[in-house]
Amino acid sequence: MKMVIPGGTGQVGTILRRALTAAGHDVVILTRRPSREGDIGWDGETPGPWAEAIDGADVVINLAGRSVGCRYTPATLTAMMDSRVRSTRVVGEAVAAAARPPRIWLQMSTATIYAHRFDAPNDEATGVIGGAETGVPRYWAYSVEIAKAWEREQERAATPSTRKVALRSAMVMSPDRGGVFDVLLRLARLGLGGPVAGGAQYVSWIHDRDLVRAVEFLIDRDDITGPVNVAAPNPLSQRAFMRALRAAWGVPVGLPATSWMAELGALALRSDTELLLKSRRVVPGRLLESGFAFDHPEWPEAASDLVRRVRRDRRALPGRRPAPPDGHRTQ
Ligand SMILES: NC(=O)c1ccc[n+]([C@@H]2O[C@H](COP(=O)([O-])OP(=O)(O)OC[C@H]3O[C@@H](n4cnc5c(N)ncnc54)[C@H](OP(=O)(O)O)[C@@H]3O)[C@@H](O)[C@H]2O)c1
Repeated sequence: MKMVIPGGTGQVGTILRRALTAAGHDVVILTRRPSREGDIGWDGETPGPWAEAIDGADVVINLAGRSVGCRYTPATLTAMMDSRVRSTRVVGEAVAAAARPPRIWLQMSTATIYAHRFDAPNDEATGVIGGAETGVPRYWAYSVEIAKAWEREQERAATPSTRKVALRSAMVMSPDRGGVFDVLLRLARLGLGGPVAGGAQYVSWIHDRDLVRAVEFLIDRDDITGPVNVAAPNPLSQRAFMRALRAAWGVPVGLPATSWMAELGALALRSDTELLLKSRRVVPGRLLESGFAFDHPEWPEAASDLVRRVRRDRRALPGRRPAPPDGHRTQ
């Protein structure tokens, strides 16, 4: 199949491009800075010749959006919102205008759309959309607003011949340098992989191979439209998550961190504590109901598999440290 991936140069795009190309598909990336042969330039907000790539494609997977791996300021939050809404709008326009529209448009969204919650897991049918929680920083609501506006933009697009699916993805764990797993593993290896602010907050995650398999599954299943949670079925507390990661690498201790220490650490990493402190308890209701079987449903096993691959890759390429796609990413 011909698959077009706007914003496919980042962490998720690298995973998908690699796997889908290996599976024999013709993958075309839309990027603001084309550098590889076959990449097509666009600006993520205005129509242009790039739209010809979408006309006649089988699948569009839109991943474009300013990285969330940064400090949340009014300027960065606005850029996160605008880049997602505008790129989704212009992709929708290209799909709508295509003489031969793609069969499916998978639009990235985020598991962050759900409420900061401990009491019960969020599936698509019964989950609570965030934004009205009390006792959390007010700016957390803005991440939810971004996710809602992002999904709304896809819903709004008039694309009668194209099935639309929004991927409410959890953190994608892959062995690639610069990805979230790499960052967490480095912290654990430094002895800093302990509970943060008590560590009771849930972490939702998905193994990179299950992400690819879920994407392939959703492409094949003509009966699925709308939001789909793309997360392993067993989210766990941040404390247990980091404990399993330490065990997988063989790090004996992880220093606990209080909220203010996390604030300092996040500042040093140019990241935001929302990414560490928000409880993301998200489960893949629709995928499981539809018969999708996860290869890596449990974090301790998934972490061991990822550690094995990290060690194998580093043995194969000692000392090589390719630049991360666009700063480190967390969600
Ligand atoms: N990584 C995760 O675990 C995860 C989990 C849930 C959701 N997500 C979401 O999935 C998407 C892809 O994730 P990722 O980790 O691969 O992100 P990423 O590494 O930041 O890549 C996103 C890509 O979007 C493009 N982009 C950045 N700013 C843009 C702008 N202003 N206008 C148009 N395009 C822009 C960039 O491509 P060019 O510079 O080449 O144009 C970049 O490579 C993101 O929207 C992210 O929020 C990621």
